[in-house]
Amino acid sequence: MRIPVNLRDAPYDVILGDGVRHDVSAFITQHLPRARVAVIITSPEIRRQPWFDFSFAVETVVIEVADGEAAKTLSSLEAVCEELAQRHVSRHDVIVGVGGGAITDLAGFAAAVYLRGVAVLQVPTSVVGQVDAAIGGKTAVNIAAGKNLVGAFHQPAGVWCDSETLVTLSGRERIAGMGEVAKCWLLEGRSRAALGDATLSDFIEVSVALKARIVVADEFEQSGERALLNYGHTLGHAIELVALDRDADELRHGEAVGIGLAFAARLARALGRVDEGVVDQTDAVLDFFQLPRRLSGHFDVDELLSAMSRDKKAHHNLTLVLDGAAGCEVVADIDPQVVREVLEQFQEA
Ligand SMILES: NC(=O)c1ccc[n+]([C@@H]2O[C@H](COP(=O)([O-])OP(=O)(O)OC[C@H]3O[C@@H](n4cnc5c(N)ncnc54)[C@H](O)[C@@H]3O)[C@@H](O)[C@H]2O)c1
Repeated sequence: MRIPVNLRDAPYDVILGDGVRHDVSAFITQHLPRARVAVIITSPEIRRQPWFDFSFAVETVVIEVADGEAAKTLSSLEAVCEELAQRHVSRHDVIVGVGGGAITDLAGFAAAVYLRGVAVLQVPTSVVGQVDAAIGGKTAVNIAAGKNLVGAFHQPAGVWCDSETLVTLSGRERIAGMGEVAKCWLLEGRSRAALGDATLSDFIEVSVALKARIVVADEFEQSGERALLNYGHTLGHAIELVALDRDADELRHGEAVGIGLAFAARLARALGRVDEGVVDQTDAVLDFFQLPRRLSGHFDVDELLSAMSRDKKAHHNLTLVLDGAAGCEVVADIDPQVVREVLEQFQEA
């Protein structure tokens, strides 16, 4: 299965299926004939997985970085660039990111800035990586002031979503990835009934197709379409901000998105944009993916409102993606009092 990302200047394909990681080598030979070295950026945890069996026709170098979010630092970027330079990696060579979204973000950013840009191929191995992070060219690292604050747009030359890599994901990582999958399912207006006997591969395909379409419509996040991908994320990010501050293990991003999606449906109902049926459908989809849809534990409503608002003090400028007669859209200037009431009920529910 091949899903094109039809960007005018640099179109590429997302290839999905069992064992597609083995096609990367032929791609390098065919499309990057001047490449002398392929540099795989990954973590030790990923490298020890049974499916980590890459073999390219060109010289292959593996650079290991810290696992997970710890990979996304400026010092780790610097270490990668130093190693690329020591190995005389040139602008004709290629970087291959292999891992979850954190690794593909770092590999993409290193490729964007090393020698002012080298080609990057992405082999995302988590659900979040496959349906979201590795597609669309947004690359970044974190700084103390916040996540993803330093980065660049740098599109990959190809993305290989190999379902064989997903078998080693832990249960919690898999469920965490389902937050993004449920978001895409709902954004596409698909119902609980349509889930039928769909498989993980089907969900990934629907999500990748949506992301590819949105990236083409709004490559640099300027015209607004890409903001739709924030569905469920306004409250989701706020919960993460508060929860991760007190316990880094309290919840995963996808779980926060699940709660954010359930909340967004209730807010849309309170604003008269949708009827009860949409709330029920949303809950049913979240249940199918075994995602939480209630705020458990105590959250201070004022703290959540501040985190959700662009104006942290006045709670003005509340903007959320909400469902409505014309489907999901970005809704600005939402009455903070309504948001507060829905949050309070949501917390008690
Ligand atoms: N660039 C974008 O557009 C974009 C979009 C969404 C998310 N992101 C970023 O992605 C990151 C989150 O990605 P994530 O959820 O994949 O987390 P992650 O990259 O931190 O990976 C989570 C854990 O899963 C492990 N893992 C990954 N694949 C595995 C496999 N096949 N088998 C066993 N273990 C595996 C990793 O080693 C890690 O320990 C965040 O940094 C986020 O900012 C970026």
